Amino acid sequence: MTPPPDATLLLAWYDRHKRTLPWRMPSGAADPYRVWLSEVMLQQTTVATVGPRYARFLARFPDVGALAAASWEEVAEEWAGLGYYARARNLHAGAKALAAGGFPTTVEGLRAIPGIGAYTAAAVAAIAFDRPVVPLDGNVERVTARLHAVEQALPAARPRLAALAQGWMGQEAARARPGDFAQALFDLGATVCTPRNPACAICPWREDCAGRRAGIQAGLPRKAAKKARPTRFGVHFLATDPSGRLLLRRRPDSGLLGGMLEVPGTPWREEGWEGAGAAVHAPLPGLSWTALNGEALHGFTHFELRMALWRAAVPAMAAPEGFAWWEAAAARAAMPTVMRKLLDLAGL
Ligand code: ADE
Repeated sequence: MTPPPDATLLLAWYDRHKRTLPWRMPSGAADPYRVWLSEVMLQQTTVATVGPRYARFLARFPDVGALAAASWEEVAEEWAGLGYYARARNLHAGAKALAAGGFPTTVEGLRAIPGIGAYTAAAVAAIAFDRPVVPLDGNVERVTARLHAVEQALPAARPRLAALAQGWMGQEAARARPGDFAQALFDLGATVCTPRNPACAICPWREDCAGRRAGIQAGLPRKAAKKARPTRFGVHFLATDPSGRLLLRRRPDSGLLGGMLEVPGTPWREEGWEGAGAAVHAPLPGLSWTALNGEALHGFTHFELRMALWRAAVPAMAAPEGFAWWEAAAARAAMPTVMRKLLDLAGL
């Protein structure tokens, strides 16, 4: 058994090289709501994108009580464009539970809050409450696989990587500063132990790294081959009233883009929609729809989407059940990126 990498070296490196990030607060001053929000945003979104959106979200919902009291429509609008909308639903559900009972300070307590998963519970416990846990995100997985020369592929290797990373907390130096230790791992992974071309020469753990000793670090972590993403097709229907308002609806609460505003359309399926089959999904019967040239493309995690857009002008009327009329600018602000692409296609 090789000894674990020396936590003191990593923390000394962090003290000199840590990134200045909007959600970082002096040790002991961490606000759990802010830590939670930043960790949820950072799960699928880059540090560069999160910066301004984090500040904007906090300006609108400055504390857990404000978020809990907000409507879903407000939260959805504030999250629009960030993707992975289940995160916003979870945040909102979690805020309602936390506003009632306060923030638990342990991993188990946090994990019991609706919408808080294993990673988020560990990150908040470490950073906000200095609990001795190592949250395992993609950066930490990579650092761990390299340090311990784990050649087993992800995702199967994940439990082992989690156990190895948690093992580093056996050191007194790490236990004295769990929040800094976690964030030092994030920063090391983002700036030194990068996916390609890791900068081993400047790494505080270069002498501790079994991957580097074996010369295999750059190829770790190994990943099981991914399946190719299938293509799916949809036709969307943009009805406009005489004042230029758009007829829109909300998607069902659960599932992809749950609770988000959309341009109504067909289901997204792997077979194309040639012919008249799409028309039965139009929001209003009896309109004369015109198909626009071109299509809008959007990549989701599990498929590529190709959307056609049909347009129709409708007379002034009340929105049918389940739909609402929206001004184009307000709609754009509230919509996920995939739906904004349809407005782009329509020149709105
Ligand atoms: N990635 C996930 N959480 C992070 C944090 N707190 N700081 C920097 N990068 C992160």
